[in-house]
Amino acid sequence: MRKCVLVSGGAGFIGSHVTVELIEAGYDVIVADNMSNCDLTCFEGVKKITGKDDIPFFKIDFTDPVAAELLFSTNEIDAVIHFAAFKAVGESVNEPLKYYKNNLSSFMNVIESARAHGCDNILFSSSATVYGEPEELPVTEDTPRQPATSPYGNTKTMCEDILRDCVKAYPEIKGIALRYFNPIGAHPSALIGELPRGVPNNLVPFITQTAIGKRECLSVFGDDYPTPDGTCLRDFIDVVDLAKAHVFAVRRMLEGKMKKDYEIYNIGTGTPLSVMELIKGFEKANNLKLNYKIAPRRTGDISALWADPTLANRELGWKAERKTEDTLAAAWAWEKHLAGK
Ligand code: WQD
Repeated sequence: MRKCVLVSGGAGFIGSHVTVELIEAGYDVIVADNMSNCDLTCFEGVKKITGKDDIPFFKIDFTDPVAAELLFSTNEIDAVIHFAAFKAVGESVNEPLKYYKNNLSSFMNVIESARAHGCDNILFSSSATVYGEPEELPVTEDTPRQPATSPYGNTKTMCEDILRDCVKAYPEIKGIALRYFNPIGAHPSALIGELPRGVPNNLVPFITQTAIGKRECLSVFGDDYPTPDGTCLRDFIDVVDLAKAHVFAVRRMLEGKMKKDYEIYNIGTGTPLSVMELIKGFEKANNLKLNYKIAPRRTGDISALWADPTLANRELGWKAERKTEDTLAAAWAWEKHLAGK
């Protein structure tokens, strides 16, 4: 019997890549999204990539408990992967209530409705931001979380704790939290990718928009960090590798392979790259010169963060495989696709 997975926030950047991998792994998928931070470009791309034109799609705002309840009561859902959340770090500082209300109530409504209708497998899209600026690197899942530096980051910490406590209280519920590092790139088909609204906050979309001419110049936020080349170090994980990790995690839940009722995994490559190395890698992979300048540090940035992914490698059987140059070539192909080139 084919299992059905609900992907909440499934029309977005990571949700659409996860939907592709789930379908290609043989799962039925339901996509739900309130479309507050995306349009249907990626969902249409998912249909083209998979050749499935009948993927159920529901335009739903999960802060509405009635909508969440209706979705779970009218569909046979075996697991839910929860992406639906606001995710702009800077915006969350200026509008904390918007972030707490949306990100927390959406997740609580999903858990409540899932539980009420026999969907006992909850996979939460968390973030390495919960580690703050760790004392030691690389971080493992036992590295202490630090007080979040933004309301956005705090909602990730709080949602992990909500899931942890629900698993404790409700014996039937199983939970996995995947802590992403820095997702980058796009599907090799160039039919889905990152679609930031307005000026991109994240590095790679700003790079590709600069390369295509939508942005004048990339600012490198600081080259005076205590790192080999002075620019920040990050664990840039290909979005397709990241998506595949979700399939491994869902499979572990649905096949009853979990060793604890609540499990947490770092989803990263384990290999730090600097901002400058990424810029140079983008230029080399795509045979172009990028217009960038060194600018002052960005408030809130930490100098270095990367994963020890050993636990995910061992327990999920998942490992990041894609080469950075292929990731950066895919990011560029996606930007050109958006520009109609
Ligand atoms: C990476 C590096 C910047 C833009 C954020 C969120 C995190 C997660 C991933 C959701 C930093 C530098 C960036 C630019 C630059 N998101 N940079 N010029 O800040 O590591 O993590 O996205 O879960 O929660 O905090 O990612 O891509 O914004 O920045 O120099 O125009 O690139 O200073 O060192 P970050 P990022």
